[in-house]
Amino acid sequence: MPINAPSLANLSLVEFGWRLTELKESGVDFFHIDLMDGHYVPNLCLPPRTVGDVKALCPEAIAEVHLMVDDPLSYLDELQQYGADWVSFHLDSTRFVRRTLSAIRERGMKAGVVLNPSQPVEALLPVLPWLDYVVFMSVEPGFAGQKFLPGSMERLASLCALRSSSGNDFKIVLDGGVTYEIGKQAAELGVDVLVTGIYMIFAQPDGISGAVKRFNSCFHNQ
Ligand code: DX5
Ligand code: ZN
Repeated sequence: MPINAPSLANLSLVEFGWRLTELKESGVDFFHIDLMDGHYVPNLCLPPRTVGDVKALCPEAIAEVHLMVDDPLSYLDELQQYGADWVSFHLDSTRFVRRTLSAIRERGMKAGVVLNPSQPVEALLPVLPWLDYVVFMSVEPGFAGQKFLPGSMERLASLCALRSSSGNDFKIVLDGGVTYEIGKQAAELGVDVLVTGIYMIFAQPDGISGAVKRFNSCFHNQ
């Protein structure tokens, strides 16, 4: 069964605390936390402190941080202090991809890179030995609530094939516009984590706990 990773960018700051509590009480133990700096992407989202807030409320949960920033290296000490568990950055956001991956691991966190829709999956080949996971973008980064881009499932299949042929056992996180139908196809391909947003967990008629139950029953046999 793929991991359910709700994208906290979908929450209004006004209701952040009690929605997070609702997610926790529904059994969610993995959170996708989008940090944006207004430079790498033309938007601002959650600040690094959110990681500390999430870990204070849900100490057992995994805080998976998706950095959409220039100069990801400069965020790592702060993220480590806040208790981040997984940290990823965009492949084209730094000239020092290997150094940044190693710096994440040296701080005791899982290291990931993020692949944009216009980047070939082969761009990962030079850094595979330093990778714990890949965040595969199926929308352009920067905004929650976008539609899954056409052609993304085929690209995702290429990434899964590359993982099998390379012998490197990194995890794959699918991020952007994931619906139940898309999630099922992705799980069949071997995707490990589904970032769930507006189409699966938030703004659902059965509320957050109903939506989490639906996720669990939908993927139960996978
Ligand atoms: C987009 C973010 C996503 C997004 C996912 O830049 O990386 O994590 O918030 O949520 P949905 O699928 O609702 O867009
Ligand atoms: Zn994200």
